[in-house]
Amino acid sequence: MKKFLSCLLGTTIVASAADAKTLVAYFTLTGHTQKAAQIVAEVTGADLYQIELVTPYPSEYKAQTELAKKELQEGTLPAIKPWPENIGEYDVVFVGSPVWWGTMATPVRTFLKSGVLKGKTVIPFVTHGGGGADNSFTDTAALCEGCQVNTDGWSGYENMTFGLKKWAKKSLDAVSK
Ligand SMILES: Cc1cc2nc3c(=O)[nH]c(=O)nc-3n(C[C@H](O)[C@H](O)[C@H](O)COP(=O)(O)O)c2cc1C
Repeated sequence: MKKFLSCLLGTTIVASAADAKTLVAYFTLTGHTQKAAQIVAEVTGADLYQIELVTPYPSEYKAQTELAKKELQEGTLPAIKPWPENIGEYDVVFVGSPVWWGTMATPVRTFLKSGVLKGKTVIPFVTHGGGGADNSFTDTAALCEGCQVNTDGWSGYENMTFGLKKWAKKSLDAVSK
């Protein structure tokens, strides 16, 4: 019935956080965001999906920053491998990204812009190298059209995960309120 109403109204109806089918989607280059994503999945009981590039990023840091800068300046959305076939079944999607030039990494931008998250609750979290989340959460809301984005995201320095478990639980609990 819930699915039927969802289709009818074009929105996701979640009776309670316990009812919400939840996915944690993340991109990582050096493992920090992956570590955070695994913790979010563990405490929320969510499934995990790693966003992967069709053409992998260079392995050297300077080349990575230059390519990311170019993609952001030119608005290029790098191709990513297919997401899970059953993604339509998820009500809530936590989206994890490293901060790149003050915003979500370009492969995550591809995912957010794809339209596949339309009608879903999207909860972003990031890891960074000292600059904080910067524009990551407001940019998530701007990129993800038709999504309900919780801009009260979580951010952590590199592989530090202080407050992450509490934030993840609280964010999911708030979905139905
Ligand atoms: C292309 C690129 C751009 C980055 N830009 C920023 C930035 O603007 N601010 C910041 O604090 N850290 C920046 N960093 C550092 C990463 O956000 C940080 O190391 C993050 O934890 C990496 O996550 P990962 O291991 O999941 O890839 C950048 C790293 C890369 C590779």
